[in-house]
Amino acid sequence: MSDTVAFDVVDGIAWVRFNRPDKRNCMSPTLNRRMMEVLDELEYRQDVGVLVLSGEGTAWSAGMDLKEYFRETEAKGLGATRQAQREAYGWWRRLRWYQKPTIAMVNGWCFGGGYGPLYACDLAIASEEAKFGLSEINWGILPGGGATKVVVDLIPLRDAMYHALTGEAIDGRKAAEWRLVNEAVPADQLKDRVTALAKVLLEKNPVALKATKDAVRRVKEMTYDNAEDYLVRAQEAANSYDNDGRKEGIRQFIDEKSYKPGLGAYKR
Ligand code: ACO
Repeated sequence: MSDTVAFDVVDGIAWVRFNRPDKRNCMSPTLNRRMMEVLDELEYRQDVGVLVLSGEGTAWSAGMDLKEYFRETEAKGLGATRQAQREAYGWWRRLRWYQKPTIAMVNGWCFGGGYGPLYACDLAIASEEAKFGLSEINWGILPGGGATKVVVDLIPLRDAMYHALTGEAIDGRKAAEWRLVNEAVPADQLKDRVTALAKVLLEKNPVALKATKDAVRRVKEMTYDNAEDYLVRAQEAANSYDNDGRKEGIRQFIDEKSYKPGLGAYKR
């Protein structure tokens, strides 16, 4: 079970990898259980500031495991099906609200259920050659596990509808054009680009990062007035974890004149 997810921590970055390359990193119940354990283990570690999710081999993740997640689980009855869903959706939810900022480094195939963790990551950088598809329609189901919600949230409705109904895969460039990912880069530059982005995040105040990433997701479904109120309260709650950071940020700019907030982060 421990082999289904690989990870190491280097210079503040937790590199977590789907690790079933022979099965194109499709998500089995075993992998889903293991991923939750790995997320648990890494979330509050002092030496982890950013988590990157990628895949071993040619795939990021080929979605749910059609044999182990669907066929074998369904054969065990409704209870087993619901449990498998809870385990998959559970770690994606955990990742959506993770303590540390997260980046999906999409190195290859990303299908169906893979859109759950893709959306859960705060940022996403893809290889230009990566392939994204809502392939559910190709084998006869609707895009579940949140995948329909993911595309409607992230991309324009016409593109979402086309993507879901045709099951045609798009490459990383198109995924960036549709805003399914932040950007696409040539495969040989993918890790460097993600590392550079992670380093930018590592320079920021971690309490502010968590408050900001949650705020961006939360306010999307709020009215303006509710969002305004939520943001006041979220900042005040953040102050209870770190009451000095922002004061120091102001001090270094106004008194010390050692940096400019418009151009970079204060020194922590
Ligand atoms: N579920 C179960 N097994 C899978 C999956 C999957 N989602 N994806 C790949 N595999 C297995 C294959 O059965 C094969 O196993 P085997 O070696 O025991 O025969 C192995 O992984 C390698 O797969 P290939 O198809 O040979 O690899 P290839 O590189 O040629 O193709 C591709 C890769 C395009 C990703 C292909 O494997 C594929 O179409 N996979 C299914 C993608 C998909 O539709 N996923 C489900 C989305 S819907 C959902 O998640 C709810």
